[in-house]
Amino acid sequence: MNIDFPTTIRLKKEMAFPTSMKRDLISMLDVKDDLVEIIDLAIDLKQQSKSGASIELLKGKTLGMIFEKSSTRTRVSFEVGMTKLGGHAIFLSTNDIQLGRGETIEDTALVLSRYVDIIMYRAKSNKAMKEFAENATVPVISGLDDKEHPCQVITDLMTIKEHKGKLKGLNLVYLGDGDNNMAHSYLLGCAMIGMNVKIVSPKKYWPDKYYVEEAKKFGVTVEVTDKIEKSTDGADVVATDTWVSMGDEAEKTKRIKEFQEYTINQKLMSLAKPDAIFMHCLPAYYGYEVTKEVAHGKQSVIFDEAENRLWAQIGIMVTLNKQ
Ligand code: CP
Ligand code: NVA
Repeated sequence: MNIDFPTTIRLKKEMAFPTSMKRDLISMLDVKDDLVEIIDLAIDLKQQSKSGASIELLKGKTLGMIFEKSSTRTRVSFEVGMTKLGGHAIFLSTNDIQLGRGETIEDTALVLSRYVDIIMYRAKSNKAMKEFAENATVPVISGLDDKEHPCQVITDLMTIKEHKGKLKGLNLVYLGDGDNNMAHSYLLGCAMIGMNVKIVSPKKYWPDKYYVEEAKKFGVTVEVTDKIEKSTDGADVVATDTWVSMGDEAEKTKRIKEFQEYTINQKLMSLAKPDAIFMHCLPAYYGYEVTKEVAHGKQSVIFDEAENRLWAQIGIMVTLNKQ
C-alpha cells in the first residue's frame, strides 16, 4: 500500500534523506567501505545469470551514458549490463548532445537527472566529472576520466579474485605510465583491499602524490620506482596500460621513446611467480606496453577482464541504486 504522507512529514523525510545522499562512483575511495561486497555481488550475479536465473534487479530503470571519449568495452558492457538487469540504457555522445555545443555541465546534469535513474559519464577531465556529479541528483558512475578508472579496477580485482580465490596479501606490479587513470585507481583499489602495489615507471611519469599517500594509509606496501630490472620478482599480478592515454595523443612520439624500456615481455613475466597472471584493461598496443606473446599467452587473463566489465558494473549499478 502506498501511504501519501502529509506535506509536513514529506518535507521532514526529504530533510532526513536529502538528494545529496545519492551515491556516486568517481574514485575508488567512494567504495572503500563496501568494495569486498561489490566484488562478491558481481561474482554471485555472474554465476546466477550464467546458470539461467533472471537478475532483473533494475527493472524499468534507465541508465544515461555520456561519452566525451571513445569506447568499446565501457559502452557495450554498460548497455548489455542494464539489459540483463531488466532496465534500459541510452547512449549519449557529446557530438550529438548540447553539452558538445556549449550547454553547461550543471544544466546537463540537472536535466538528465529528471529523466534517468543512473548516469555513466566518460569525461575528458576529473574536474568536469566532479562538477557533473555535484549537480546530478541521481548516482553518477565514472566510465573513466584523466585521473581514475574505478569501474576497470573494480573489474580487475573481481578477475583476480576469480583466478586466485583471494585478494589480501597478493602483490600487483604495474609497469608503464604511472601518471594515468589506471595507475591511480590501482594504487587505491589494491591498497584498500589489502594488496601490495608497485608502480614501475620513468620518474617523469610517476603517479600524483595524492594517490600514493592515500594508498599508503591502508597499511599495505606501496612502492613507486623507475627500476625495471627484477621489478616483477614475486608478483602475483603483472599489469600495464597504454603509454598514450586518450588526451595524450600529441605526446605520442615522445612517450613511445621515453617508455621504450618498459615493455612487458616474456622475460619480465618469467621473473614473476609461476602462477602469476597478466592484466591489461585494453585497448592494447602490441610491441609497446606489452608483447603480443604475453598478452595472448597462457598467463594472460585480458579477455576474462574484458568480460568482467559487464558483471562488475552490474554489481556497481545494483549497489548504487540501493542507496
Ligand atoms: N578498458 C576500457 O575502458 O575500454 P574502452 O575504452 O573500450 O571502454
Ligand atoms: N589509460 C587509458 C585507458 C583506456 C581504457 C586511457 O585513458 O586512454
